[in-house]
Amino acid sequence: MTDLHRHLRDRLLATLVDLGLARDAAQPLIRLDPPKNRDHGDVALGAFQLAKLAGKAPPALAAEIAAKITSDAIIESAAAAGPFVNFRFRRAALALEVLSAIQSDAAPYGKARGNGDVVCIDFSSPNIAKPFHIGHMRSTVLGNALCRIHRHVGATVHGINHLGDWGMPFAKMMTAYMRWGNEQELHRSPMRYMFDLYKRYGVEVKQNPGLDGEAAAHFRALESGVDNQERRMWKLLRDESLKAFQGPYARLGVTFDHITGESFFEDKMAAALQRVVAAGVLEQSDGASVVWLKELGIKEPCILTKSDGTTLYHTRDLAAAFYREVTFHPTRILYVVGAEQKLHFDQLKGVLTKMQEPIAKAVEHVPFGLVLSKSDDGKWEKFASRSGNAVFLDEILDEAVAKVRAVIREKNPDLANADQVAEQVGVSAIVFNDLKNSRIKDVKFDWDSMLQFEGETGPYVQYACARLASILRKVEVPVPAVDAIDCALLADAERVLLVMMDFGTAVQKAAEQSEPSHVTGHAIALAGEIHSYLRDHYVVGAEPAVRDARLVLVDAARRLLTTGLALLGITAPDRM
Ligand code: ARG
Repeated sequence: MTDLHRHLRDRLLATLVDLGLARDAAQPLIRLDPPKNRDHGDVALGAFQLAKLAGKAPPALAAEIAAKITSDAIIESAAAAGPFVNFRFRRAALALEVLSAIQSDAAPYGKARGNGDVVCIDFSSPNIAKPFHIGHMRSTVLGNALCRIHRHVGATVHGINHLGDWGMPFAKMMTAYMRWGNEQELHRSPMRYMFDLYKRYGVEVKQNPGLDGEAAAHFRALESGVDNQERRMWKLLRDESLKAFQGPYARLGVTFDHITGESFFEDKMAAALQRVVAAGVLEQSDGASVVWLKELGIKEPCILTKSDGTTLYHTRDLAAAFYREVTFHPTRILYVVGAEQKLHFDQLKGVLTKMQEPIAKAVEHVPFGLVLSKSDDGKWEKFASRSGNAVFLDEILDEAVAKVRAVIREKNPDLANADQVAEQVGVSAIVFNDLKNSRIKDVKFDWDSMLQFEGETGPYVQYACARLASILRKVEVPVPAVDAIDCALLADAERVLLVMMDFGTAVQKAAEQSEPSHVTGHAIALAGEIHSYLRDHYVVGAEPAVRDARLVLVDAARRLLTTGLALLGITAPDRM
């Protein structure tokens, strides 16, 4: 919340109390949003819920509020429009407040103080036995952004990689390795090698269905807890995969606070199952233990042990929920996992709900859409690479970087650190493309459009940052303090200032709705506004008072764009 918003909220609250509303009930209902049309005002209040509280029609209450909020040093006007009240701030106050808060890194432009939320974010979580799926890349990029966004608004965040390193998929991989694998080849290129083994298992199991029984036996041996061949194999394959993921994770700016994969819950599942029994909700069905969830509208039961006594994906997620509850005391647990696992998370939450566990409320699936690529006949379909559905993250990142490198060679051959800039811009283009639209939408993976330097792309926003940095270099005087400039000289920059003012709302919404696209959208809007401002307003060469005022504006735009990009996991080069 900015000081402008805070001032307006105080005035509103006093007004609402005057109108007979209870302070405590009214306060949380005061929500100030950017209006649909900026010509109507700077911020808007929807009076719907407040009107309900007041027992009045929304337009009637809106009119009463507008009449009572008279202008002052900060507020210029208040006008009712149907059920909304639109407010305008005085231009000098707007410039002064926004620019000084950005310059001093005050929240919401800088990081907020603790807000009391504890958010566990379960993301990336690839299956190390199966190839890294393009969907895992989305989870990685989305989860990374959500970790950064929640930290910014003041939450304590636990970023967790719930690695798929247990269960039948892993047992199949292990079986293939035990039959056909060799360690030298594994070390040479672990991900590709495991992928080949995985494919070979798929082919051979068709000829030899007995392989699945072998895999099940290996899994039982692994779950027995004994230090045996399976356990040593498990450790080897897991360590190699983790090492191999480290490269792409580092390039994407991704770190985890905890890498507690499915195997971590090996010794915690028995207690979790005990708790389900104690709650009286576990039933037997054909030798398996299940929880029925029909009364919650879920047809399929949640299976917690199979008839041979082994555990499942669900069993580990249940143990993980209990573990997170006692270890972190989370207010929210976000599972950043593709929409195709909706049933899985409905069931998980369902079991906890049926058990009347308070943690059930914290469980939130954060689903997202598919990644699509263009087929040879030009149709958009589920992403496929040369190796089928698998992707090697490092390969995709390398390709993006190589393409950007070629553009730089052509457009800016003398650029210093060209390789480093290409890495920054190439990787960011992919990240930005993933985060640009609402997450539930499918993402079109199209090199040409994501690498454009124009339009809604990562390179476009990075280019805006570089342009601002270049102005600051060229002007050759330091950026003055906001108090030292005449804010009235920025009356022509109101559009830029209003977009800047919206930053806090965008980040807050992104955190509440698990939607980084609010932050991407803000970065695009700010880059666009500052670009068009600079088309008709020069800084270098303007007379000193004007130059100084514009300098503060340019510096603030650069800072805020840099902050916004950082929340998405993107860095911006000073030159490109
Ligand atoms: N490893 C799983 C998969 O690739 C995703 C795990 C998501 N997290 C979780 N707690 N279930 O499908």
